[in-house]
Amino acid sequence: MIRMSNVQKRYGREFRAIKGLSLHIRRGEFVFITGPSGAGKTTLLKMIYCEQKADDGEILVNGRNLSRLRRGSIPYLRRNIGVVFQDFKLIHSKSVFDNIVFALRVVGTPKSDTKRRAWDVLRRVGLQHKINSYPLCLSGGEQQRVAIARAVVNDPAILIADEPTGNLDAAVADEIMSLLEEIHVRGTTVVVATHNMGIVHRMKKRVIRLEDGKCVSDTDAPDAFELDEDKIALVKPSVG
Ligand SMILES: Nc1ncnc2c1ncn2[C@@H]1O[C@H](COP(=O)(O)OP(=O)(O)O)[C@@H](O)[C@H]1O
Ligand SMILES: [Mg+2]
Repeated sequence: MIRMSNVQKRYGREFRAIKGLSLHIRRGEFVFITGPSGAGKTTLLKMIYCEQKADDGEILVNGRNLSRLRRGSIPYLRRNIGVVFQDFKLIHSKSVFDNIVFALRVVGTPKSDTKRRAWDVLRRVGLQHKINSYPLCLSGGEQQRVAIARAVVNDPAILIADEPTGNLDAAVADEIMSLLEEIHVRGTTVVVATHNMGIVHRMKKRVIRLEDGKCVSDTDAPDAFELDEDKIALVKPSVG
């Protein structure tokens, strides 16, 4: 579903944010990307949803080679990827309901379907009683539920979440993680970047750890990372 081979990403001329990263995330997996601040987690996710382009190496998402993708194809690829952020990024001037309807309209959903689908997805995230509220009248946890509803309303194959619980207290963070788990159980591939190790330990999922732009461990392939760094690219593709 997501395959990276020897990916490099620079910001500016000198600074290398991602330094030869190879990984394979299979369809239907739930994977955490962890590592300290500045390790390259956000950059990795941005490359998956085409917000940043790799400078070198190859990235395949849903069978498409992102380095060969033309600009015009990016919106089509993004339809298959829902994204959730730490700061929710909801449209404050629109109601909860209209935030979802907007996401449906953007991809050309027929008007006759939007109301029912918006209602259904808000029920899935437990917010049917808040449809007429405005984002800033909701708690952080509720706002994140709306953001998740918006991310999955078009049934993406992949859901990406970048520090989705970074602004939430611990109990609410666990609720958001349960919601992501429910989405995963329904068949979506879920990739979550977080430096919250408490959550990572409780969820018992695959964990890919980045440090300084490199993958330093992957619970799915413990043996691969005992080898030399330059052999990882050879070993990784055989996993799965
Ligand atoms: N747009 C940018 N321009 C320059 N440097 C950046 C940019 N985005 C991120 N960086 C740098 O790249 C490194 C990795 O950042 P990031 O991917 O955001 O890491 P993380 O999400 O793990 O904290 C950091 O050193 C960061 O300062
Ligand atoms: Mg980040």
